Amino acid sequence: MTRLLKLGELNRRNIIVVFALLITISALVLSRYLSPKNITPLTQSWEKVIPHQDIPKGLVSLSAKDCGVCHQEYYKEWKTSTHAHAWTDLQFQAELRKESSPFLCINCHIPLQNQQEFIVSGLENGDIYKPVKKPNPHFDKDLQMEGITCASCHVRDGYIIGKTGSELAPHPVKVDSIHLSEQLCISCHNANAVVTPTLACTFETGDEWKAGPYFGKQNCISCHMPEMHRPIMPGLPEKKSHYHAFPGSGIPKLVSLKSESLDGMDVKVEAPKKQVILGDSLSLSVTVVNARAGHRLPSGDPERFYLINMKFYSPAGDLVHQTQNRIGERWQWYPEAKKLSDNNLNIGESRRYKTALQPAQTGTYTLKVEVTKHRMDEETAKYNKLGDEYPLFIYVYEEEIKISVEE
Ligand code: HEC
Ligand code: HEC
Ligand code: HEC
Ligand code: HEC
Ligand code: HEC
Repeated sequence: MTRLLKLGELNRRNIIVVFALLITISALVLSRYLSPKNITPLTQSWEKVIPHQDIPKGLVSLSAKDCGVCHQEYYKEWKTSTHAHAWTDLQFQAELRKESSPFLCINCHIPLQNQQEFIVSGLENGDIYKPVKKPNPHFDKDLQMEGITCASCHVRDGYIIGKTGSELAPHPVKVDSIHLSEQLCISCHNANAVVTPTLACTFETGDEWKAGPYFGKQNCISCHMPEMHRPIMPGLPEKKSHYHAFPGSGIPKLVSLKSESLDGMDVKVEAPKKQVILGDSLSLSVTVVNARAGHRLPSGDPERFYLINMKFYSPAGDLVHQTQNRIGERWQWYPEAKKLSDNNLNIGESRRYKTALQPAQTGTYTLKVEVTKHRMDEETAKYNKLGDEYPLFIYVYEEEIKISVEE
């Protein structure tokens, strides 16, 4: 009987303890949900998206495909541009899947709110990995696939932004030459920020251009959207127009895709005479010049680089001497993002690389010069599991020289 009583008392005590615990836990949980989180607003330009855009009157959608029903050549050109692949790009998609890539990565690649699945209203405690988001009821998946599409640059507040205005257009046109200036390009092609200790955005193409000799003379648009004369739409009279393929480095996004290059670099090779005497040395030099780019070479993505290869083959075809030089930046990403070196070519800068070989025998030696431009190194491509359909480099220059070495 006493034993039973004791047990009863214990149970009662236990129940009180459990109740007390329950109350504390629910108070904690409730306070977490009821008290406002510290939500900080988005401040940096790249944290923000272009607000939702309605379809301008007279049009059926914002899609490039539909603009292309009338502006046929523009659509064909744009489709070959890297802008059209800014979302589908395999490397971009691979990076986006990583936890280290914050929400803001998409803002220059699919810049319209219409293209984004979520609406981000702020950051929890200022943490870029904790965006406060809700589903976007107007999310347009097809428009997302188009990346940097016609509407990214041309549609604002129910108007098509143009530079001249047109009575003939079936859609409202608003003239805004400041919006459609190089400022538009620079808004994405210049970001220099350390976002987190291991994540830095370093596109300095705009700053490089501003500091260089082309400033005030030629700009992003005059070089990358060359002027031409043609009808804006088939059947209309010719007008001043701009090429919309946005040619650049020419490194395609897929093996099956042709990508247009502006060819900014000149390469000059100085080789020995066709015939030399055994005992003479074969000296070879390659001079590279940033002859036509309005910024440094390479520019933009810090993973880009050039290789300058000089190779000597013996009469038997064996590689007997080789030198390799690299132009580009080197970065360390861990434990903190830091630029280690940078020998990019300044505007107009020329650099000469030399090497030589003392031939060991007579016969015909073959000298090869190869200058290649790389999107990224093989290690990065492998790390991101990019397959054979993703081109990593293109040949900028190739030359083969035969030298006869005689007694
Ligand atoms: C401020 C705008 C901006 C933001 C934000 C941005 N990008 Fe980009 N991204 C660019 C531009 C501009 C290029 C093209 C650069 C070039 O070709 O020189 C680019 C190119 C790329 C490419 C292609 C690289 C190549 O070799 O061609 C990848 C991949 C990429 N970005 C991933 C990301 C990731 C991941 C993030 C987030 C950490 C991000 N981007 C955020 C503007 C941006
Ligand atoms: C039904 C045909 C049609 C469609 C669809 C169409 N446009 Fe046009 N657009 C025109 C015509 C016609 C003009 C005027 C051409 C002229 O003046 O020679 C024009 C003019 C323009 C201009 C030049 C404005 C200026 O200031 O000179 C721009 C930019 C433009 N359109 C962009 C677009 C975009 C972007 C889309 C898709 C969102 C689009 N258009 C859809 C027919 C169309
Ligand atoms: C909304 C952001 C945005 C705007 C605006 C923008 N770009 Fe881009 N641009 C990009 C991104 C992102 C890429 C790279 C896409 C990729 O590699 O997947 C790119 C790629 C390019 C390339 C190709 C680079 C290469 O690899 O050869 C050129 C050239 C270029 N842009 C020029 C321009 C010019 C000129 C303008 C202004 C008329 C402009 N861009 C406006 C974001 C932008
Ligand atoms: C990266 C930004 C960008 C994209 C993407 C873009 N445009 Fe343009 N577009 C411009 C700029 C900048 C101009 C004005 C050039 C100037 O007059 O200096 C322009 C001009 C035009 C014009 C006026 C005539 C001319 O050629 O100058 C038309 C029409 C046009 N664009 C249609 C389109 C269509 C259609 C698409 C999609 C298939 C498209 N644009 C995509 C930036 C862009
Ligand atoms: C004087 C003409 C000129 C001007 C001005 C100019 N560019 Fe270029 N740009 C070029 C040439 C030429 C190339 C091709 C380089 C090459 O040979 O791969 C190029 C390449 C690029 C690339 C690819 C970079 C790389 O190394 O792979 C991007 C991105 C680019 N330009 C964007 C811009 C932007 C944005 C502006 C304005 C701030 C601009 N360009 C101004 C001529 C120019």
